[in-house]
Amino acid sequence: MCGIVAAAAQRDVVPILVEGLRRLEYRGYDSAGVAVLTGDEIQRRRRVGKVTELDQAILDQPLQGGLGIAHTRWATHGEPTEHNAHPHISEDNLAIVHNGIIENHAELKEMLKAKGYRFESETDTEVVAHLVNDQTKQGKDLLAAVQAAIHELQGAYALVVMSKADTSRLVAARMGCPVVVGLGEGENYIASDVQALLTETRRFQFLEDGDVAEMTVSGVRIFDTDGNPVERKISESSLSADAVEKGEYAHYMLKEIFEQPRALADTLSERVAGNRILEAVFGPKAQAIFEKVKRVHIVACGTSYHAGLVAQYYIEQGAGLPCRVEVASEYRYRNPVVSEGALFIAISQSGETADTLAALRYAKESGYLATAAICNVPESSLVRESDICLMTRAGPEIGVASTKAFTTQLVALALLGVALARHNGMTDRIERAYIRQLLHVPVLVEHALKLEPQIREWAKHFADKRHALFLGRGPTYPVAMEGALKLKEISYIHAEAYAAGELKHGPLALVDAEMPVVAVAPNNALVEKLKSNLEEVRARGGRLFIFADPDAGIEPSEGMEVMTMPDHIEPLQAPLVYTVPLQLLSYHVALIRGTDVDQPRNLAKSVTVE
Ligand code: M6R
Repeated sequence: MCGIVAAAAQRDVVPILVEGLRRLEYRGYDSAGVAVLTGDEIQRRRRVGKVTELDQAILDQPLQGGLGIAHTRWATHGEPTEHNAHPHISEDNLAIVHNGIIENHAELKEMLKAKGYRFESETDTEVVAHLVNDQTKQGKDLLAAVQAAIHELQGAYALVVMSKADTSRLVAARMGCPVVVGLGEGENYIASDVQALLTETRRFQFLEDGDVAEMTVSGVRIFDTDGNPVERKISESSLSADAVEKGEYAHYMLKEIFEQPRALADTLSERVAGNRILEAVFGPKAQAIFEKVKRVHIVACGTSYHAGLVAQYYIEQGAGLPCRVEVASEYRYRNPVVSEGALFIAISQSGETADTLAALRYAKESGYLATAAICNVPESSLVRESDICLMTRAGPEIGVASTKAFTTQLVALALLGVALARHNGMTDRIERAYIRQLLHVPVLVEHALKLEPQIREWAKHFADKRHALFLGRGPTYPVAMEGALKLKEISYIHAEAYAAGELKHGPLALVDAEMPVVAVAPNNALVEKLKSNLEEVRARGGRLFIFADPDAGIEPSEGMEVMTMPDHIEPLQAPLVYTVPLQLLSYHVALIRGTDVDQPRNLAKSVTVE
């Protein structure tokens, strides 16, 4: 987490850096800072809080320069205070910004203290600043100093260093955290993500792990782990700068919820023809892999993990293949047993989540048949390192709470399920029926979005509560889990999801008038059982809020509010469509409570640390 931006130009780079930070705030927003070289002096401004605070500080005390680095932080070592905010400076010689975690910082700190270096922060980053400084004091130029210093580091980093001794260049390094170089006309840039630089350029080079880049106004040189010059491909981004603007919406989250019909249609577009899936869309190796798959292992975090739990139904019931799903932070340390013919699937919006990436790397060494990624960022490490992939086409998701990324993951996973099923005996007729159902999802989601005015009213019943329960059964149980995650994440109301049949085994004890219970009730094989579970809640004085299929036979009554979902939602479509009102509910609850919807406390969009 944390976002870094840097620029070298023949004009003042401060506006470029501040705009870049604003676009990277999704990566962390507890403090921000900027440092520029003015003549041979390092000038720095840092503030606790969001980039607007830093902006104000720069207005109050202007600074300018043609070479600069900047950072927006999500604290890992040391509280979000001004003295822990980046850039960090070593002995007034050089300044550094860093994203990641230096695992051996404690021992390095002792070694540096013994050499006389003074530490002004609790961060692991300051260690790197002093290490590089120490190397320059031994006579190395900035590039050589960074190359030497990173050999001492264990952990993950994306960093950029600027030195008073060399006023023409910046040096960046990458290990485990993303770094992109932006190529301009007579100026160049570095950032954590292309989004930071879209106002300046569309031409990018992505550093690989172990790379070090030296950047001036006139060019960029990249070196690999062994210090050999390397060429990294130049890609042209198709994203537009205003794809990351809020437009007419009050929040990114709301915009992204309403973008879902388009995002879902885009994710399906060109992937099917004649109501049949085009297997080539998974990549040239896909068909040979699919023929050999005997089981599937899905690994992800957070919302993406919930998408995996839905996919388990698509893969086990649809394709008849055993499927296991688990969170990446557990998987990577549990020495999983890998059976013959197992396909490993990693799901991630960002493709940079540290636990998911580590799980993928572990899987690549563990004897799986192949690795596959479902991801929203084409240039991400996850995509580059997987054997096959299917991109979700959600477009940039800025709100920390994942919305359109989740539903597009579901549609991509449904396509993958159909592709696997085809190799496991699914008939053409059923394949066509499934694809037709998927193609109709954007329309159903449009209809579900029309429930917003009623949902806004329901939200009033939640806004003063401290807890909420979410219930679902079968493939909509993970949807309930996702609904609970959304509510807790942005409204800070404690919310838990249960498989409705599990309620009587304990959680029913919590139910009273102060604990609203949300249920998702599609008209499927389990609906009668769900209705019994709902009666158990009502009998204990619980207040139910049910999103129900019109044919589910669930009518509003005392203690039971019912909102009717669109007609004719098939089981394959239900997880996708029922997710939408839960997103809107949490959004409107958060709005009433006045929380920071897009940037909830303590969180960040992209979790690139373990
Ligand atoms: O980028 P990823 O999909 O790998 O992110 C995984 C989680 O951090 C993420 O889904 C998180 O749970 C969401 N922000 C929740 O809304």
